[in-house]
Amino acid sequence: MKAVLFEKYGLPEKVLKIKEVAKPTPKDDEVLIKIEATTINDYDWSLVRGKPYFYRLMFGMVKPKRHIPGMELSGVVEGIGANVRSLKEGDAVFGDTSAYGFGTLAEYICIHEKAVIKKPDDLSFEETTSIPHAFTLALQALKDIGNISEGQKVLINGGGGGVGTLGLQLAKLHNCQVTGVDSGEKLEMMKSIGFDFVLDYKQINFTKNGEEYDLILDCKTNKSAFSYLRSLKSKGKYVTIGGKLSSLIGVLFWGKIISVFSPKKLQIVSLKANKDLDYICELITQNKMKCEIDGPYSLEDVPRLIQYFGEGKHKGKIVIKTNTQ
Ligand SMILES: NC(=O)c1ccc[n+]([C@@H]2O[C@H](COP(=O)([O-])OP(=O)(O)OC[C@H]3O[C@@H](n4cnc5c(N)ncnc54)[C@H](OP(=O)(O)O)[C@@H]3O)[C@@H](O)[C@H]2O)c1
Repeated sequence: MKAVLFEKYGLPEKVLKIKEVAKPTPKDDEVLIKIEATTINDYDWSLVRGKPYFYRLMFGMVKPKRHIPGMELSGVVEGIGANVRSLKEGDAVFGDTSAYGFGTLAEYICIHEKAVIKKPDDLSFEETTSIPHAFTLALQALKDIGNISEGQKVLINGGGGGVGTLGLQLAKLHNCQVTGVDSGEKLEMMKSIGFDFVLDYKQINFTKNGEEYDLILDCKTNKSAFSYLRSLKSKGKYVTIGGKLSSLIGVLFWGKIISVFSPKKLQIVSLKANKDLDYICELITQNKMKCEIDGPYSLEDVPRLIQYFGEGKHKGKIVIKTNTQ
């Protein structure tokens, strides 16, 4: 089978090679999936470069322990291990495999049966592969942790990115007034997709402009926990999905202490992979939310696409079709 491989950390176009490797065989609790479509995520950009360095604690200190990146897929089950009960050969499936392993940038993968769920018939392989990671992050941040409710005043920092634009769609389902913060060149696009107000983070520090919000979703935490408190209404919630490590540690540490003395909340999302995917697919089939797809591209394009992702040039989810003939 064809796969995208790397043997050492470095820039994607230098270290990633497209190679023929042996097709894997499923262990007892695994399924063999013929991958139809896969994606590129933040994890791939970090995994291939081995940066930030703390990633190497998981992925290998000097050189990578895993050689095929990729963590989202849609495809068809082609073989099953002896103990597999939830899936059978021929089932179309999709999912975020990161809780069980990486390696979706290839034509086949063997992965635990729980890493994927059945694909709805009315959504394509390209659509379903683009859903698991970003949609679940947005949903868990705004709904499970943020408890978003009707008509709230919401701010999304990094609003023009993958999770931010989905967060906007979710907030609009609750008729919220949404402010998006991002770089100046994205603000027109953000207005066109429905943000009520937009701010350029290079011009305005949203924690210092006197506005207060019921709910803040942060995709790029880079300030102190106390500055976010300033921007929250008296029972407001600040929820972050990622950002600068030192700022995240501050939010984690001070968030716990602040919650003892104040009704304001500061929390970090720890992603539960594939949670509520049925609900998300329902929203998409009912045209209440939509997938923005950049592509589809082929496996041969992956080295340049991971670089393109890292430079923030993608518009929506980068989707790779494993068989583009
Ligand atoms: N919590 C979890 O379990 C978990 C799991 C996986 C991933 N994550 C996190 O999820 C995040 C990925 O989110 P995403 O896919 O939405 O990223 P994304 O598509 O890269 O979007 C981030 C957006 O923020 C903008 N931005 C950059 N610096 C900013 C700043 N200082 N202030 C405001 N906006 C800024 C970016 O603009 P430019 O493109 O111009 O830079 C981009 O539009 C990462 O932080 C990752 O670590 C969290």
